[in-house]
Order: sequence, then C-alpha cells, then structure tokens
Amino acid sequence: LGAGPGPLRRPPREHLEAPVLPVLTYEPLDPATVTNPYPVLAALREQAPVSWHDGMSSWLVTRYADCTAVLRDHNTFARDRRRTGQQVPAASLSVQSLDPPGQASVRSLFMNALRAQDLPGLETRARDRAAALLREAAERPSFEVMSELAAPLSLAVVCDLLGVDEPPLAEFAAASDAIMRSMDGGLDPALIEPGRQAREELTALVDSWFTETGRPSGLLAHVRAHTPAGTGETEELFVRNTARVMFQGGYSTMTAALGNALHTLTAHPEAQEQLRANPRLVPKAAEELVRFDGPVQGTSRTAIRKTSIAGIPIPAGDPVVLLFAAANRDPARFAEPDQLLLERRDNRHLGYGWGTHSCIGTRAAQACVRVVLDALRTHRTPLRLTGRAQRQPSATMRTFAALPATLHP
Ligand code: HEM
Repeated sequence: LGAGPGPLRRPPREHLEAPVLPVLTYEPLDPATVTNPYPVLAALREQAPVSWHDGMSSWLVTRYADCTAVLRDHNTFARDRRRTGQQVPAASLSVQSLDPPGQASVRSLFMNALRAQDLPGLETRARDRAAALLREAAERPSFEVMSELAAPLSLAVVCDLLGVDEPPLAEFAAASDAIMRSMDGGLDPALIEPGRQAREELTALVDSWFTETGRPSGLLAHVRAHTPAGTGETEELFVRNTARVMFQGGYSTMTAALGNALHTLTAHPEAQEQLRANPRLVPKAAEELVRFDGPVQGTSRTAIRKTSIAGIPIPAGDPVVLLFAAANRDPARFAEPDQLLLERRDNRHLGYGWGTHSCIGTRAAQACVRVVLDALRTHRTPLRLTGRAQRQPSATMRTFAALPATLHP
C-alpha cells in the first residue's frame, strides 16, 4: 500500500474516458475501517473496481480477476521501483523488491532451500510448542492471544525454519512492529524513521548469521552452502535482505494471521464446533480463515508504460494498489464470499499473494495455522473472548494489538 489516505474522486483529467465514480470514501486508517474494512471494500469493488485514490496517489484495484491480471503482467507492472527511475534504499533490495528476471536467482535460492527442509519435522515441533503454549494459557483464567500464543509460536516456527536461535521476544517484537507499521509510511510519514532504525537493528542480527558460524542445518545453512562462489556484493546484499524479510516479515505476518484466525473463530462458535467434530476439516479451514480475514491487505506495483485495467486507462508511472482483502471476497470468484465456509472448495485466494511475488513461506505458514487449529479443537472448551479485541491501527497489515481470551467455560 504505502501512501496517504483521502477521498476517492473522479480520475484526473487525462482519464476522462473512465466512468464517473460515486462519492465513496476509503480511509484505510479510519477506526471504523480498521475494525471492519469489508463493507467499504465491497462498495469499491461494486461501484468503482478500478479507481484513483488521491491521498494514496494510487489506483486501487479490488476485483479478483483484475488483481491477478496485474500480478501476471510484470512486464507492464513493476514491483522494482528502479524500473520507473525511482531510488530504492539498499536495505530494501530483496526478493520482494526485485522483478524477474533479476529476481529469479535469489527467489530460487530460497525456494530450493525451503524444499530441502524437513517440513513434517517442523510441523511436529510447532505442534508441540502450540500445545504447550495453549496448556499454559489454559492454566490461567484468561490470557492475551497475541503476546502469549500467536507471537511466541510464530517466532519459534520462523527461527526453526531458518535455523537460527530465537532472539528475546519482547525486543524483537518491538523492532518488528516498527518495520511493519512503517509499511504505512505513505499514510503517516512519522512511521518511516522508526521503521528504518528497526531495519538497521535487524540487519546487524541477520548479518551475524552470515558472518559468524551459523547452525549447520536449517534454511539459511542451505542458502549459505548454495550461494554460488563469486557472488557479487550486490547479490550478497539481496540474499541477506531476503533472509531479513523472511525472518521479520514471516514472523509478523504469521502472528497477524494467527490472531485474525483465532478472532474469527471466537466470532463463529459454530465453526469451532465443526472443527471439534471433524479433524479432517483442519487443512481447508486453515485456508478459509486466511481468505476470510487474512493479514496482508494488499500489494503495490507501478505501471511502467501506458496501459489499462478493466478498460480504465492507466498512465505510465502511476502506482497501482491491488487490494487482496477486497479480491478475496469477490462474489465473481467466491460463492457466498462473506460467509466463513470451512469446507470451501476451489479456494485459490490471494491471502498468500499470487505469481512471482507470492509468499515463499506458504507451506510453513499453512502448517502453523493447522497446528493451532488442532491444539484448539482438542482442548476441552472452545476459545472465547473475555474483553475488547483491539486492532492495530495499521492499513497494510491487518492485525490485533490485543486479543483477551479464555479457554474456560
Ligand atoms: C499465514 C502467514 C502468512 C501469510 C498470510 C503471508 C502472506 C504473504 C503475501 C500475501 C505475500 C505477497 C506480498 C506481495 O505480493 O507484496 C507474501 C510474501 C512473502 N512471504 Fe509470506 N505470509 C505468511 C507467512 C510467511 C512466513 C512464515 C514466511 C517465511 C518464513 C514468509 C515469507 C515471505 C516472503 C519472503 C515473501 C516475499 C516473496 C517475494 O516477494 O518474492 N511468509 N507473504
């Protein structure tokens, strides 16, 4: 996302062929929108599926088919802002910010390293950790889901996958939050500097994994062993930055996803009952929960040439924001999109992205959601909220600041 809020308006003068937009206001950081963005996203999708947002200085795209069409066409829509003549700080150059063909070597280095991991073993260890965290939580009358379950489990899983020691949670969580919130720097410039500082702090930690003797196993050991000899300084930087993105991005997205999924289940006790009655539902439920209320609200690209989306002309150089959260509830793609259907079929949602920038950690993330659902369904009482769930005031990442709950009747 990454730009300021503002009312939707008619496209600027050069886009006069575009349909006249209704008076619709989308303010991603408005408290009502943070609480429940789906009504305004549905209105956008229905009334102005490709529309210019003044405050965000971007086109917003909300239909599933249009989002995937843009993501498919990386010759026209760049992720790498350097292709449109913009500067990108060295610390931000990673698998996430590069485009094919330059992205291919670093992406396949990490994808191959991931394929070489013992994912069933990772899932077993995650299962044990989730069960232990849930047991501890059940010993108290109530607990805080984000800091006592979602965050520690996510950190454990990501560190286990990468093959690194777990840093102290509180310190790391603060740095990670600053980075996560800086993704909304376009909406609130005050968030940019704390994010930059936190990124620098984490870069030092990540560098130590490459310069000191790292663990002999795990994803980063594989990456270190398979980085071709003679790799230049720039490519080496891509690799380290990608390790940082996997570590911090993986942790914060995983934490957010677990919080959202558990919150959804507290609001749908019938779904918890369904899971308790039928363990075979767990894998599909893990997908449906990410579709229904996933953490990553969208992604951005820049048009490198004059083009169009669904017939709306897009000038060269214009940024385009693809709103996954809207596309994941597009009735043209999903039957009964606003219903949580744990048995949903053909659920190719955009919660893990799409195409060449889709989530590298998908399989590990799916396993982590599954183990939490399993731990929950086998506990003697369902999860329920005990107080007000507080959303983080963030636009790019949909997550909770606090989720007080209990495992007691
Ligand atoms: C349920 C948890 C997760 C969700 C919902 C999720 C979602 C996403 C999404 C939507 C993207 C695409 C963003 C874009 O197109 O701009 C993405 C990219 C990415 N994810 Fe995840 N993610 C999760 C967990 C993880 C984990 C655990 C890791 C690593 C350990 C990870 C590593 C990455 C990386 C490295 C990318 C960038 C890929 C690229 O640009 O080529 N994610 N993720």
